[in-house]
Amino acid sequence: GDTDRGEFAHHMLKEIFEQPDSLENAMRGRLVEADASTHFGGLNLDPQKLRQAERIILTGCGTSYHAALVGEYLFEEFARIPVEVEYASEFRYRNPPIDRNTIVIAITQSGETADTLAALRESKRKGHTTLALCNVVGSTIAREADGGVYLHAGPEIGVASTKAFTSQVTVLAMLAIYFGRLRHLSALQGMQMIERMRQLPEIIRETLTCYDDVRRVAQRIHTARSVLYLGRNYLYPVALEGALKLKEISYIHAEGYPAAEMKHGPIALVDADTPSIFLIPRGGLFEKVMSNLEEVKARGGPVIAITNDGDESQLAHLRAKCDELILVPEVPEFLQPLICSIPLQLLAYEIAVLRGCDVDKPRNLAKSVTVE
Ligand code: G6P
Repeated sequence: GDTDRGEFAHHMLKEIFEQPDSLENAMRGRLVEADASTHFGGLNLDPQKLRQAERIILTGCGTSYHAALVGEYLFEEFARIPVEVEYASEFRYRNPPIDRNTIVIAITQSGETADTLAALRESKRKGHTTLALCNVVGSTIAREADGGVYLHAGPEIGVASTKAFTSQVTVLAMLAIYFGRLRHLSALQGMQMIERMRQLPEIIRETLTCYDDVRRVAQRIHTARSVLYLGRNYLYPVALEGALKLKEISYIHAEGYPAAEMKHGPIALVDADTPSIFLIPRGGLFEKVMSNLEEVKARGGPVIAITNDGDESQLAHLRAKCDELILVPEVPEFLQPLICSIPLQLLAYEIAVLRGCDVDKPRNLAKSVTVE
């Protein structure tokens, strides 16, 4: 009911601000310094089977599909396992050739999405080991999978998924460490990753202070007809998710794109009424994304950059090139999807409120889609 929202105007806003706690809950008891690894009670997966695995398929719908895309980057980088990501609705009918040593992981907040359930059942029929990452305990998909991991994010009421997404990404990062430690990841690297994950709740708390920057940006762009979201590497899926959030609750057309792919088409959309939101944290690709950003700016499109506080010379350079900056804390690349999602969730929320949209119950959408 409305009273559960406490001081917050909407469930979505409350759930965004719950993320320091929901991530803490996702990690509780699962980070094991003694093994420089992670541990999951219900995974039910023979380590030998995992060492022999030749492929992982991640499947889901909507926001859960975007978490799966982040999972692909994580598993391939740290566990060196080839990963395919499939929309559950495509996977269930596509009948792709799948190797025997393949593990299928279904990602779903509700555990009831019809297409994801069908993909899971089809995988089981073909004899694959199946796992589920679910939030709702005892849900159909949680019960039918061979094993899995609960998100422990608590009930998510807002139709647009926020805290479940960051919990999914957190669990995928922990699984990447676990899989990695049974295959290619050194104890030292495992330990460093765990240490950084332990700091997450505090870092997310700090990230949420970007809300003031976000409100300013929302004022500036809430009348746009279309918005572009651009990122590379781990932040490409985050760009997709940022665009989805905006579409879902503000009904503004938005597109997520790999920042460098932009020049092969979407750049034709750029004009004074089409803002571009660049995810441009410090790191190896900073200069590359910077030149993508300059290409957009040169064509007269408003540019908003999400980057890290700190390094003043780099910031001055960015400030000169873009119309607005949103600052978030600096973290290692594998945790950037979590940190950079927060301002995009808040931005979609603020824009929807400014446009008078029903944030918690957007038109035409359901919290969980149990029909095909
Ligand atoms: C619906 C919701 C989305 C959600 C998707 C998948 O479309 O509106 O927010 O991402 O279903 O839901 P699931 O429960 O499987 O994660």
